[in-house]
Amino acid sequence: MTRRPARPLARQSLLIAAATTLGLVAACKQNAGPALTDTSSPAAVVAETAFAPPALDTIPQGPQGDAIRRGRELFLNTGTAAPRYVGSGLNCRNCHLDEGRKADASPMWAAWGMYPAYRTKDDRISTMQDRIRGCFVYSMNAQISPAGTPPPYGDDIYRDLETYFAWLATGAPAGQELKGRGFVTVAKPAMAPDPARGRIVYEAKCSTCHQPDGAGLRNPDGTYANPPLWGARSFNWGAGMAKTANAAGFIKANMPLGQDNSLTDQQAWDVAAYVTSRERPRDPRQTGSITEARQRFHAKGDFYGQTIDGDLLGDGK
Ligand code: HEC
Ligand code: HEC
Repeated sequence: MTRRPARPLARQSLLIAAATTLGLVAACKQNAGPALTDTSSPAAVVAETAFAPPALDTIPQGPQGDAIRRGRELFLNTGTAAPRYVGSGLNCRNCHLDEGRKADASPMWAAWGMYPAYRTKDDRISTMQDRIRGCFVYSMNAQISPAGTPPPYGDDIYRDLETYFAWLATGAPAGQELKGRGFVTVAKPAMAPDPARGRIVYEAKCSTCHQPDGAGLRNPDGTYANPPLWGARSFNWGAGMAKTANAAGFIKANMPLGQDNSLTDQQAWDVAAYVTSRERPRDPRQTGSITEARQRFHAKGDFYGQTIDGDLLGDGK
């Protein structure tokens, strides 16, 4: 992790309060107007200079500091800090890299000031709690956790994660698209994304860490040194990362680990197509057939419901 200069702490609570108020004002405006703009996904970038979240050693003492530390622990080691609600082998920081600090890996300092926000995916105003809950449902596959559900609304887990995010956003302007929010968009390549070409990229550049079967590499204690990309312990079909375009954006800017932006756009799309055309846990929104779920939730942008390499994708096996 890169150490960054400390910021004055006195501004912190004021800015958190400002962030919350502005967020609510923005939501009210959107609610009242006829034309809703979806601010839950990264759009036009306003700020030009990169935001620097505070250094770790500036976490304050006292109850707020304790909540920040618990939130950070939940973010880094979700499976051990919240075992009741985690069904995948993943932790939040596996996709939101560098403790949720890394630009272009959906950093939490950029997300914090943007909620509540209207979201097309759900056609309603989402709070930060809703967004975190969504990542538990899809990325953490809470359906197969011991509890069988994400943490209930109001659970301390949300308070602690949100307190950590608010602290990461210390000094960040609220209600503004910050440079580095979300994942990058990779332009559609010359040739249509192809899982077969992607397999060649995967075997050359990814499989030593994520393993040839995509199941990841475990530590002796059962946690993952390198997280699973598909299969029973990965994120499920409803996750944002299961969409090929999102995976291409994440991979282009962040993978192979430590070699950001080393793949060509074509390679990023192809390897994303390979990863997102392997089987993974079922979409929790599927109530009827795969065909019906494909029409409702996967009309474009992913391989759900298609038969690839002889496997009907979506049935979880
Ligand atoms: C040097 C080992 C290494 C290599 C090589 C590597 N990764 Fe990763 N990858 C990781 C680690 C470790 C993480 C989790 C990062 C963290 O927690 O900080 C990760 C995270 C991911 C994630 C998000 C988490 C998940 O499990 O879905 C995806 C997707 C991913 N890698 C795809 C790829 C692809 C595609 C390649 C090849 C182009 C690749 N990786 C190459 C180590 C590696
Ligand atoms: C498999 C990768 C993955 C994991 C693991 C993951 N997320 Fe996410 N997260 C995403 C993707 C992809 C998006 C954006 C696309 C979407 O919303 O579907 C996202 C979006 C978010 C956002 C909104 C960001 C913004 O700028 O609006 C928040 C907040 C968030 N995640 C929190 C979490 C938390 C907390 C955890 C752990 C409980 C977590 N995520 C685990 C992939 C992941």
